Amino acid sequence: MNWRHHLDWLKDYLVYFLTAKNRHGIHSPFVYNLSDVVLKLPISSSAQEELIAYKNDLINSTESIVIEDFGAGSRFLKDKRKISDIARISGSNMKTISLLYRLVNFYQPKRILELGTSLGIATNAMALAAPNASIYSVEGCAATHAQAKKHLAKYQRNNIELHQMNFANFFDQNDQVFDFVFLDGNHREEAVIEMLEKLENFIHDETIILLDDIRWSSGMKRAWQKTIENQNYHVTVDLFKTGLILKRKHQQKEHFLVKY
Ligand SMILES: C[S@@+](CC[C@H](N)C(=O)[O-])C[C@H]1O[C@@H](n2cnc3c(N)ncnc32)[C@H](O)[C@@H]1O
Repeated sequence: MNWRHHLDWLKDYLVYFLTAKNRHGIHSPFVYNLSDVVLKLPISSSAQEELIAYKNDLINSTESIVIEDFGAGSRFLKDKRKISDIARISGSNMKTISLLYRLVNFYQPKRILELGTSLGIATNAMALAAPNASIYSVEGCAATHAQAKKHLAKYQRNNIELHQMNFANFFDQNDQVFDFVFLDGNHREEAVIEMLEKLENFIHDETIILLDDIRWSSGMKRAWQKTIENQNYHVTVDLFKTGLILKRKHQQKEHFLVKY
């Protein structure tokens, strides 16, 4: 991150901090409930321990793998990477993991899609939050996919199907409609827009899409801004690091900044 990016991030955070709402002033019942109940959902201590244990296991790994880069690359990592570094730098952080857990635990979506498995940190959280859901997670890099497979098997999550392929190939083969989607793959502006376009055929009016890293780069910020303006999505919710995207065509188009 260069200083200009840091400064932009700080400015954005100030605006978010000063203008994001908690339940007061939110008139949409769906977003009010999200803010008042879902984002505050307690996570049991046993679930918390399992979420932390999965990530810590990876952070304590002494293995390295050679990765094939499918995304926007890492600002910090080379192609030969330690599992511990991937988990720390590219893996979902505890705030995002807790958010995913709360959303999936509350709404109990039946079919979940994750684009960008990496080491399975978020996959594990969603599988724990909704043991009866079917979770499909897609990762292009073979070595990373193999590590996710190994670690998820250790935690005996039986409701996950891991696919090692490019997202585009997954869409070509898929005929499922998803209730919840975690978009955490390619962090390039055009790639995000393209993923959202492709997803159109595989979501319904109430599908919840969570897009990660909406302020990761100026490209991601533009992709998020275009998503807010997209007439196909009537509800967009800025949670600062992540954004929620829903069609909800019966609801008046509105963008929300919600404190999380
Ligand atoms: C930020 S990481 C995902 C982190 C993960 N969701 C977690 O919870 O730790 C993004 C992953 O998406 C994969 N990826 C990016 N673009 C892809 C594409 N077009 N097809 C397949 N995989 C892709 C990368 O290889 C990388 O492992």
